[in-house]
Amino acid sequence: MRLADKIAIVTGAAQGIGAATARRFAQEGARVVLTDVLESGAGVAQEIRDGGGQAEFFRADISKAADVQALVAFTVERFGALNIICNVAGINIPGSVVDLEEEIWDRTFAVNVKSMFLTAKYGIPEMQKSGGGSIINTGSANSLVAEPLLSAYVASKGGILMLTKQMALDFAKDNIRVNCVCPGWVDTTINDAHHDLFGGRAVLETMIADVQPIGRVIRPEEIADVNLFLASDESSSMTGSAIVCDGGITAK
Ligand SMILES: NC(=O)c1ccc[n+]([C@@H]2O[C@H](COP(=O)([O-])OP(=O)(O)OC[C@H]3O[C@@H](n4cnc5c(N)ncnc54)[C@H](O)[C@@H]3O)[C@@H](O)[C@H]2O)c1
Repeated sequence: MRLADKIAIVTGAAQGIGAATARRFAQEGARVVLTDVLESGAGVAQEIRDGGGQAEFFRADISKAADVQALVAFTVERFGALNIICNVAGINIPGSVVDLEEEIWDRTFAVNVKSMFLTAKYGIPEMQKSGGGSIINTGSANSLVAEPLLSAYVASKGGILMLTKQMALDFAKDNIRVNCVCPGWVDTTINDAHHDLFGGRAVLETMIADVQPIGRVIRPEEIADVNLFLASDESSSMTGSAIVCDGGITAK
């Protein structure tokens, strides 16, 4: 029980990496509030409860301050405190800076970056009351290396890495650690539009070793394990760090 007595919020928890993370945290004893714009997150929470874990779903658009305030208030009311925030929710809409609509640029930064400002803004005061905590921000291999035609996404993921380091400095004295996870190509629906840039999923799979040296896609559960490490006291010496779990993409 690596997260015994811990209370966690996981964003983007209706599917993909967020759902896998919520399940993993609950397996290790955390009480988890799953949040997403998709109501199907309620089914993931129910599945966790059916398996003997403790979980609730709270629908929120994490780019909106009022929703995030309500999410934090719900968590503290339901479980009594807040120790872990795992920011997983994100969007990836391809386009060069010439092609991309301004609205898509703004939406990308609101969902991918502003959400992390908001969960920290309203979540950190609760962590301070508890004597500390762990925040995990989901970056990407694109936090470190760029990629054609992903202008807003790459810029947002670069921003997440530096926001992580900045927050780590401000709250280290409060025993609040802030770290970033940088995945490579994980098999989730976020990549559906991204696949088209390579000529479709089938084409991408034939050239997978060129894209990702381990020669396969990463499973969401593999990233959930990294999130678990950063959420737990096993990573107690780490803050302002990035764990790159990208199947070797940035080694090239
Ligand atoms: N899959 C990959 O290859 C990969 C690689 C690197 C980084 N990532 C990052 O991992 C994170 C999770 O992505 P995933 O792969 O699980 O994709 P996913 O699309 O399965 O999950 C993203 C979740 O975020 C939710 N979401 C989107 N906007 C939201 C909002 N405004 N409020 C609340 N929830 C919202 C979606 O509904 C969805 O459930 C993202 O930040 C993504 O950028 C993914």
